[in-house]
Amino acid sequence: MDLFEHQAKELFAAYGIPVPRGIVAHTVAEARAAAEQLTGRVVVKAQVKTGGRGKAGGVKVADDANDAEAKAKAILGMDIKGHTVHKVLIEEASAIAEEYYFSFLLDRANRTFLAICSAAGGMDIEEVAHTAPEKVAKVPVNPIDGIDRARAREIAQAGGLPEKSLDGAAELIERLWAVFVDEDASLVEVNPLILTADGQVKALDGKVTLDANADFRQKDHEVFVDKAAEDPLEARAKEKHLNYVKLDGNVGIIGNGAGLVMSTLDVVAYAGEQFPGSPKPANFLDIGGGASAEVMANGLEIILSDPAVKSVFVNVFGGITACDAVADGIVSAFKLLGDRGEAVTRPLVVRLDGNNAALGREILQNAALPGVELVDTMDDAAKRAAELAAVGA
Ligand SMILES: Nc1ncnc2c1ncn2[C@@H]1O[C@H](COP(=O)(O)OP(=O)(O)OP(=O)(O)O)[C@@H](O)[C@H]1O
Ligand SMILES: [Mg+2]
Repeated sequence: MDLFEHQAKELFAAYGIPVPRGIVAHTVAEARAAAEQLTGRVVVKAQVKTGGRGKAGGVKVADDANDAEAKAKAILGMDIKGHTVHKVLIEEASAIAEEYYFSFLLDRANRTFLAICSAAGGMDIEEVAHTAPEKVAKVPVNPIDGIDRARAREIAQAGGLPEKSLDGAAELIERLWAVFVDEDASLVEVNPLILTADGQVKALDGKVTLDANADFRQKDHEVFVDKAAEDPLEARAKEKHLNYVKLDGNVGIIGNGAGLVMSTLDVVAYAGEQFPGSPKPANFLDIGGGASAEVMANGLEIILSDPAVKSVFVNVFGGITACDAVADGIVSAFKLLGDRGEAVTRPLVVRLDGNNAALGREILQNAALPGVELVDTMDDAAKRAAELAAVGA
């Protein structure tokens, strides 16, 4: 999960990292009130989860509350790379002497954590990294050793920060490492990290990505979820502990195992190309290894509550959970949904293979569920599901 800048800064502040005073505003009137409260010059900053806000006109300095009101009016509702600005951060303006860059991230390719530091920070850091890579220090961080004050100072020095900034930067970097580790982040980025006219080192911007795999031990992160932006189907699936991702096609997909589901998406998209309207997968849904009737029912319910879905492809390879158990699951799911008043009305193509496949097929044949078709191979089943979606569309 990516955080908004203001959320990142709230997190930074909780770890003792210096950030400018700021207030979030959702309306022009709130922006004015915030500027009055902060007094003096303020900066009005679009809160969107994308980079390059400044260059898009989403970061503006305002001289007073009147000006802040005008700037907020221009920025609220603005579109930045497909993100609509619903809120702004009104922040006290800092007197900037120098702008640096700092981040900690997970370097997957090299299987390590990485600190990136440069004295040439600010809005053009991508350009600097491209044209003058020697100005950007990339320092691997061993997770066991972590970062202490001395190590933090070395990294700041490697990034070319001047002597006068080293102590302040080292303290900030050490705290940023604590944010990175304790909050289970996969990215913490500060650009610009500034030296103020009076010699303080501060975080003027903040980007944080939290690792959702750690949600189970980071209950506090719930407050950061942007409910308004969450897909309603994904939110419901999450409540039911389903691994569901909404896509924009019309063939509902259920499978067991993330790898099988991923390839099912490919096969359906490929098969769909030969039918009118090129039907595509409507979702990713992995019901996992031990797919009980209830999980199957919940999965079907989520998929069928997507009005775009015209057909459903259930693709199961029986392993520890054998195909007969999955078939029983489908039969009970139909009954469960019927009892809930949500009887299945759209066609279902089922492909069962692997452990006890024959038995599974027999169970489904005997159940004679309305709209359920059994197809033997994955390719043929994908084709049939796409065809049914094209007909139903
Ligand atoms: N509180 C502030 N006081 C003074 N200047 C600021 C303040 N906040 C931002 N700025 C100036 O605006 C520039 C852009 O701000 P910021 O880094 O937050 O946005 P951005 O870099 O355009 O956004 P992103 O990092 O999402 O690409 C900064 O480099 C800095 O010069
Ligand atoms: Mg920035």
